[in-house]
Formats: sequence, C-alpha cells, structure tokens
Amino acid sequence: MIKPHAADALKPLYVADDAARKKLAAEAAKLPSIVVSSAAAANAVMLGSGYFTPLSGFMNLADALSIARNMHATCGLLWPVPVLNVAPADKLGSVKAGSRVALRDPNVEGNPVIAVQDVKSIETISDEQMEALLQGVFRTNDPKHPGVAAFTSTGRTVLAGPIQVLNYSYFATEFPDTFRTAVQIREEIAKRGWQKVVAFQTRNPMHRAHEELCRMAQEAVNADGILVHMLLGKLKAGDIPADVRDACIRKMVDVYFPPNTVMITGYGFDMLYAGPREAVLHAIFRQNAGATHFIVGRDHAGVGKYYGPFDAQAVFDEIPAGELKIEVFRADHTAYSKKLDKVVMMKDHPDHKPEDYVMLSGTAVRDMLAAGKPLPPEFARPEVGAILMKYYQNEAGA
Ligand code: ADX
Repeated sequence: MIKPHAADALKPLYVADDAARKKLAAEAAKLPSIVVSSAAAANAVMLGSGYFTPLSGFMNLADALSIARNMHATCGLLWPVPVLNVAPADKLGSVKAGSRVALRDPNVEGNPVIAVQDVKSIETISDEQMEALLQGVFRTNDPKHPGVAAFTSTGRTVLAGPIQVLNYSYFATEFPDTFRTAVQIREEIAKRGWQKVVAFQTRNPMHRAHEELCRMAQEAVNADGILVHMLLGKLKAGDIPADVRDACIRKMVDVYFPPNTVMITGYGFDMLYAGPREAVLHAIFRQNAGATHFIVGRDHAGVGKYYGPFDAQAVFDEIPAGELKIEVFRADHTAYSKKLDKVVMMKDHPDHKPEDYVMLSGTAVRDMLAAGKPLPPEFARPEVGAILMKYYQNEAGA
C-alpha cells in the first residue's frame, strides 16, 4: 500500500491501549487545563487519527512561519498549513513552557479533556508575523474571509509541543457510521484488496457534477474503488450540515454506483477555506488514509473570489518531485450539457456556450429549495434533491 506522508508507518497520536489511556485520563484530571479553540481541537482529532502523520503535535512559530512562507517546516518536511494550538494570553493560567497541560474540548458539553500536551514553548504572534501567516496560508488578510476570521479569533499565544490524544471529540459519537481514522481506512482498503484508490474531498451533498467527477477519475486512473471522504467539522454559515450531506451521499451512492465500489467516510476537521494550501493538506491526509489518487477540481476548498478557479491545482506544481506520493487527478469545470444530455468536462467541448450547460450557484440552490421548488434533475439526483428539500423546508419552518 502507498506509504504515509514522509513516514514508513502511520503515527496516530490517539492512545489506543485502554490501560494507558485510562492512566493518561487520570493524570489529565490533575493537570492545569485550558479550553482550546475549535481549530486546535480539530487538529488534535486529525493528529489522533493518523491523518497528520508524521507530526507529533502542535507546531511552534518558526515552523508555522516557515510553512506559511514556503510550504515546508524548518526540518524540510512538506506541510502546507500550520498545525497550531493558539490561545488567548489571559487563558493560560499556570501553564508554562516545560509543563504538561490538559487540552479541553470546546465542542463537547462539559469540555472533557481531548488531549494532553507537553508544552515545549510558549510564543506570541506579532502583527507582522500574523500578516505573514495569513498571506501565506489564505493569500489574504481580509477579516471577511471565514478562514481568516476563525484564525484571528483564537488569540496570539502559540503553545507548541507533542500531544497524546484521548478521544475523537464529537465526531466518533455523532457520526459513528461515517467518521473513520486513517488507520481504519487503510485497514478497510487492505480488506477490500484495493490497489488503486481515488479519494474525493467534499463539504457538499454530492450533486451530478461531483458524482460524475468521481466516475471520470475512477475510469481515468483505473481505480479499484472510490474513497468519498467528507468533512464532518465546522463550516461557514449557509453550508449544509454534515448529517444531511451524509444522507444525500449515501443515497446517491446506493442508487447510482455499483455495490462495493465506493467507501463513504468522513474526517473530523473544520473547513479552512484556504483553497490551494488546503488542497495540499487534503492530498497529504488522503495519502495517509491509503489513497493513491486525489481529485482536485474547480475552486477546491475555495470561498468567494479569493482564489482563481484552478489555483488549487497549480499549487501542486510548486511541490518538489517525490515529496508527495499521492497523485492528483486535475478535473476541469464539470457540468451537465443540455446538448449531449450528460455531465461533461467543459474543456472537452469547446463548441459549447455557457447556456448549453445546467449550472446553479449555491445561493440559487438554497433559494429554490427554500421556495419549495425541486432542483433540476440535470443538476441533482431526485433522491438527493428530496433530502435537501426536506432539510430546507424544516429550516424555513424553524
Ligand atoms: S470543497 O470545498 O470540498 O472543495 P466541494 O464539496 O463542492 O467543495 O467540492 C469537492 C471537490 O469537487 C473539489 O475538488 C472541487 O474542486 C470539485 N468540484 C466541485 N464542483 C465542481 C465542478 N462543477 N466542476 C469541477 N470540479 C468541481
């Protein structure tokens, strides 16, 4: 199977041994503790699940700045987005460099401890450094960018050092059928005997374009199977909740794909909307999950007009050969052609005019469903449309 990123074996930081985990939880109860940001908790889940192999914990400022500047940590490791535990200075209490601290989960009732960190250093992000981090990761410092807003809201104090993870936050309990660790996905791929696996990132219910992209990629690379790997963490307002997306995807796969050709799974991370940099992160953690190919289409992980439609493909050209093992399947803008009565890649049909395609913006989709108008079957499968309609009608009534 494909090797994990820059490592021979996965390094999940979850303490899998029951006795060791109980001991750690008992120790954590006596340690000084802080309630971390949602972003830090999500980082802990990704580190715990093996997706962030080969990292051993939270980064320091030097690594974060180096990554922002050139996508590599100070040790030379390819990594596109700093993995940080940032807190407001007035929340630190007695936590000092050299101490162990219990990290409490902001997203679970009662704030249980999600991980224990060996704090190696505590540093403060200056204004200049914040600017470098934002420009490097998000290509903007616009506070209206949802990723920038989330990043700048967590404080300025960086707590670096290795962690041991006690649980997977709310992901394992709220999404028991869908949340999977990188370890579990590798096991399942091995069990199914798949050699070539094409992974698909999504934060949406899968519409016809998404569905066809998966099919096109599978055919193009001759993959044994498709790994649909959906984001289960936090999104910006207006995006569709994970349980609704999950139901849509399951229904669509059930009806429109041959049995046992698609694995439907999810991971516990908040959306960054960091476009190109997030695409590279996405590729790395799909490699860690055992996928050999990764689909990057139009405006991958984008938001608004902050990134060009194919910036998230071009960024892979900046990566030195051999540093990333997973191969990127670059997909052109895909849409339903009224002329050909099927979903196509636009680059293959230069004769088409924009009006020859069925295309709907996210806002148009929301408006139609809120008004009780079914989505066109060329855009969404009727089974998917029905689930979305129910959600929006309940929302409107709420
Ligand atoms: S994302 O934020 O997770 O990227 P989304 O779930 O909409 O958003 O997209 C998942 C993947 O499908 C991304 O690789 C994206 O580029 C691709 N994609 C979505 N819609 C299209 C489309 N119409 N044409 C080409 N690629 C698309």
